[in-house]
Amino acid sequence: MILLLGASGYIGHAFKEALQVRGEEFRTLSRSQLDYTRFEALYPFLKDHRPSFIVNAAGYTGKPNVDACETAKADTLLGNTLFPQALAHACAMLDIPWGHVSSGCIFVGCQVATENGWVTEKDMTRPEVRALAKTSPAKLRGFDETMTPNFSFRDPPCSFYSGTKALGEEVIRDVGNNYIWRLRIPFDEIDNQRNYLSKILRYAKTYDNLNSLSHRGDFVTACLDMWLDRVPFGTYNVTNPGFVSTGEVLAMIKAILKPSRDFVFWKDDAEFYRQGAVALRSNCIMDTTKLLAAGIRMRPVHAAIESALSNWQPGA
Ligand SMILES: NC(=O)c1ccc[n+]([C@@H]2O[C@H](COP(=O)([O-])OP(=O)(O)OC[C@H]3O[C@@H](n4cnc5c(N)ncnc54)[C@H](OP(=O)(O)O)[C@@H]3O)[C@@H](O)[C@H]2O)c1
Repeated sequence: MILLLGASGYIGHAFKEALQVRGEEFRTLSRSQLDYTRFEALYPFLKDHRPSFIVNAAGYTGKPNVDACETAKADTLLGNTLFPQALAHACAMLDIPWGHVSSGCIFVGCQVATENGWVTEKDMTRPEVRALAKTSPAKLRGFDETMTPNFSFRDPPCSFYSGTKALGEEVIRDVGNNYIWRLRIPFDEIDNQRNYLSKILRYAKTYDNLNSLSHRGDFVTACLDMWLDRVPFGTYNVTNPGFVSTGEVLAMIKAILKPSRDFVFWKDDAEFYRQGAVALRSNCIMDTTKLLAAGIRMRPVHAAIESALSNWQPGA
């Protein structure tokens, strides 16, 4: 039996649906039934039920957005660092393999090809980077799983949320057998306030940058395939291969959904942070070579976005 934690959340719900479709034997557990974030409750539960695998889609993301994590620091630290650490140790003691939903937001920027090799560029709004993205995208590449997070408490500045997600990876890595699945800006065809495409459609102003993204369905399929195919444990960037600019996403939205409104970008970072945001935002490109080499397929990011928009299910 697979145990799914966080099934009531945006990502957990997609795991639940995928497990149902696959006919896997699974059960969910919510904090409303048992406060699994407390080791003294979690450990006896796992000892009694002995799941064959655990999917941890629980965590604290902040509502309505990541800015809330700057004030709810205790919840953020508990949900994203202390609870994963407790789960890792309980699983190691009981020899239960598990997967943890982490985030690509522990990185900022990308790798840029220069005469002296690849160098990290944190500011992808620089005109030189944007020009390369258009004319020579192969000269930009993402962060791979061997690289140390550069948007974290150890490499500030970062948002409090990102800091706790990076620490979360640190405290579970090499404790027992687990996957660290890095999700990045989820989207799909179902209109939802958590869906990146819905957010872009509704934001008064949009932040223009480059990013890797994860189609929600592709992400959970890839994560479950990893376990069912017994891919080696470890950290994986689970994003749709490639990267996309906000401008490209808007162009696809205009072409496919044909919304009646106009879209406006924040003039620059200064205007965005002055009027729109509290926490620093990470924009980054992720490298998916390891994922693909493990035999896990995800559609290229442009194809996944186009498909989501072509099959768009507007909300009420
Ligand atoms: N959504 C994104 O944009 C995004 C991007 C990258 C990574 N992630 C990661 O993906 C995971 C799931 O995110 P999500 O967007 O699905 O979040 P969500 O919709 O807020 O759901 C998270 C679930 O976690 C459980 N939970 C456990 N401890 C919690 C706490 N202290 N505070 C709040 N909820 C808690 C809750 O389930 P019960 O109370 O029912 O147990 C809740 O339904 C998180 O680890 C997040 O960091 C999300």
